[in-house]
Amino acid sequence: MKPPPTLARRLGVAIIWMMVCAVIFIATASLGIDLLIQYEVKSRLPENLAQAVDLLEQNRVPASDDMLALMKTIAAEQPRALLLSYTGMALLSLLVIAICVWLTGRIARRVTDPIYAVAEGAGKIAAGDFSHRISPPAKLTREVSVLVDAFNAQAEALDRSESRMRFQTAAVAHELRTPLTVLRGYIHGALDGVFPRDDAQMRALLTQVEDLSRIIEDLRTVSLASSGALVLDITRCDLTAEALCVLDVMSPHLRDAGLVIETDLAPVVAWADPARVRQMLRAVLDNARRYAAEGGKLQIAVEEAADRCVVTVSDRGPGFPDDHRAFEGFWRADLSRTRATGGSGLGLSVVKALADAQGCQVSIANRRNGGARVEMRFMAA
Ligand SMILES: Nc1ncnc2c1ncn2[C@@H]1O[C@H](COP(=O)(O)OP(=O)(O)O)[C@@H](O)[C@H]1O
Ligand SMILES: [Mg+2]
Repeated sequence: MKPPPTLARRLGVAIIWMMVCAVIFIATASLGIDLLIQYEVKSRLPENLAQAVDLLEQNRVPASDDMLALMKTIAAEQPRALLLSYTGMALLSLLVIAICVWLTGRIARRVTDPIYAVAEGAGKIAAGDFSHRISPPAKLTREVSVLVDAFNAQAEALDRSESRMRFQTAAVAHELRTPLTVLRGYIHGALDGVFPRDDAQMRALLTQVEDLSRIIEDLRTVSLASSGALVLDITRCDLTAEALCVLDVMSPHLRDAGLVIETDLAPVVAWADPARVRQMLRAVLDNARRYAAEGGKLQIAVEEAADRCVVTVSDRGPGFPDDHRAFEGFWRADLSRTRATGGSGLGLSVVKALADAQGCQVSIANRRNGGARVEMRFMAA
């Protein structure tokens, strides 16, 4: 779409139009005033002098007496005619000035109205109405269009982040409530002497407490990373060594789940925090174990590409839905299934937060032949 003209252009065109119209109006009106004055003077002349004027208008010469009398009358009438003409011109100029002032006011309002609308909108947003948007005026200038678009985009972003925050607060409450309810029930039972001390029960409760601690730790990591306060120990990090270290621990669990692990690990060194790299890998591999075990094959590759060291984890599971929001906290593709497998929906948001903090780009995609591919691009050392 063609962008609207700039304010300078619109004002320039308006001023030129006003000036042209004013000049044409003043010229035509002053001619009219002169003709009126002539008509008025002529209507008051005696009949012989009026006839002399008619003759002159027909390019004929009147009698010399009439001519002389006519000249005397004209000389006598001149000051009055001039006064009438000047008065007419002055009134005309006042009218033109009034029209120009009115038009300038209209143009100024066209510029200032959207600015007031933006100020009013900012006030509504400050008062908590994030759904407020400004409808762009019919005749826009480019500057106003940019301002209105920027305001609406900002309001949209605030609206989105506010509803995300509301969702996350509700999700935190929901995630914490279940283990807390179980714990409270057991402690009440134990205090009332209903439950005897039972090691198996205690271990189950410990799992609930560990779940709680993990959720709280994940939330803390995401919030520290988003405020730039996460403490990292960035060094030259051998990504292959870290991948092998994680695989050492996780391979039995991955195999138990039915996954066949394939690795393609080139020795590459990146700028990263080794402990955080292991944490990211653990989260991604754990997802493959939980959600892609039926796919069978799990590929882990480490390679160097341009100035990046790339770690890729590809599985043959169901992949991500097109409209996934996996990097947002508490998002799950299938609530019932993942709830049963115990995921809180924070794993990938922690991966993203850690990646951002280390200058690493992380992306999620689906493989062409089915399955998910998570790619982490670290800065090469
Ligand atoms: N490899 C994968 N294949 C298919 N879906 C996945 C995969 N990894 C993650 N997901 C989906 O993304 C959601 C978010 O993952 P994550 O942030 O790790 O949270 P959690 O594992 O705690 O549910 C999961 O609930 C799951 O629905
Ligand atoms: Mg997970």
